[in-house]
Amino acid sequence: MTMTYLTLPHLGRRIAVGEGRTILQAALDAGIAYPHSCRSGRCGACKSRLLSGHVELARHSPFALSEEERAGGFILACRATPTQDVTVAWLDETYHAEPAVAQEAEVAAIDRMTHDILAIRLRLADRAGFRFAAGQYLSLSVPDAPPRNYSMASRPDEELVELHVRAVPCGRTSSRIHAALAQGDKVRIEGPAGSAYLREAHSGPIVALAGGSGLAPIKSIVETALHAGLDQPIHVYFGARAERDVYLVEHFRALERRFANLTFVPALSQAASDGWRSGFVSDALAADFRDLAGAKSPARPPWWTRPWRFSPHAGCRRTTSTPTCS
Ligand code: FES
Repeated sequence: MTMTYLTLPHLGRRIAVGEGRTILQAALDAGIAYPHSCRSGRCGACKSRLLSGHVELARHSPFALSEEERAGGFILACRATPTQDVTVAWLDETYHAEPAVAQEAEVAAIDRMTHDILAIRLRLADRAGFRFAAGQYLSLSVPDAPPRNYSMASRPDEELVELHVRAVPCGRTSSRIHAALAQGDKVRIEGPAGSAYLREAHSGPIVALAGGSGLAPIKSIVETALHAGLDQPIHVYFGARAERDVYLVEHFRALERRFANLTFVPALSQAASDGWRSGFVSDALAADFRDLAGAKSPARPPWWTRPWRFSPHAGCRRTTSTPTCS
C-alpha cells in the first residue's frame, strides 16, 4: 500500500494519507476540522493552496475551481488525491469549526410549515456538547432510513435544535420522517459540519438567498446576526413556486418591523397575487442588487453570505451543497 503524507503548516500537523484517500478524507479521518461542505467538488468550500507536492484532481465543477485557479496552484481538498507527499494550506483563515459529535436526541415537536415541509425540533441529550455556527448542518439518523444532512434553522444559543425537512419524492429518509416520525421519538444526530456560516466579524451588508427548505440555514444566520446586534443591512430573498410553497413569511415580516436593517423579499416564480414579487428570486435579487451597487462604491460590492456568489448579470448561485433532504 502506498502511503503519502499531508502537511498542514498552519496547524503544525503531518498526517498519513492512505492509498486512494483524498486530502479532505485524510484530514477528517485524523480529526481535523478541514473546511468543507459538499464533499463532491461542487461548492468550493474546501479550496486550498497546494504549497508543495502533487495531487490528482478528480472531476469537479469549474464553478468550485476554475482553470485559472487550478493553474495558479489551487486544489479542491475533497477531489485531490496526493500522488506524493504534499503540503497544503486551506484558504479560509476564519474557519474554526467545532468538532463533530454524535449523540441521541428526542423529537420535541413537529410543525407543518407547508404541504411538503416539516419543522422538527430536537431536544439533544447533551445540548451543551453540540456547538455550531449559524448556517451549519448536521447528519440526522432516523430508524429504518439512511442518515441525511439538514441545516439548523435555530440559533446556536437556543435550547431546541430546529430542522426543516422537505418531502423529496422517493426520498427514503424524508418520506420516513414525514410518514412516521412523531413527538417523543428517539433519533441520532452527528455534527456540526459545513463552512458556510455567519462570520460575526463582518461589518458589511449581508445578502442571503434561499429557496424552499433552504430557508433553514438562512433563518439561523439572520436571526443570529440580529440577535447579536449586527446592524448592517441584511437582505433576505426567499423564492418559491407558489404561495403554498412559502413559509415563515409572517415571521420574517415581524422581524422586518422590529429590525430596521432587515429587508425580506419573497418572490414567486408562478403567478403571484398583490404584494408579492413575481419571477425567479435570483432575478429579483439581481435587479435590486444593481440598485444597491449603485448606492455603494462599485469597487467594493456588498458582502454576501458565503454560500452564495453573486454576479449582477448572471444572477445568484448557491455554492454549497444544500443538505440533501432525501
Ligand atoms: S468542493 Fe470540496 S467540499 Fe465542496
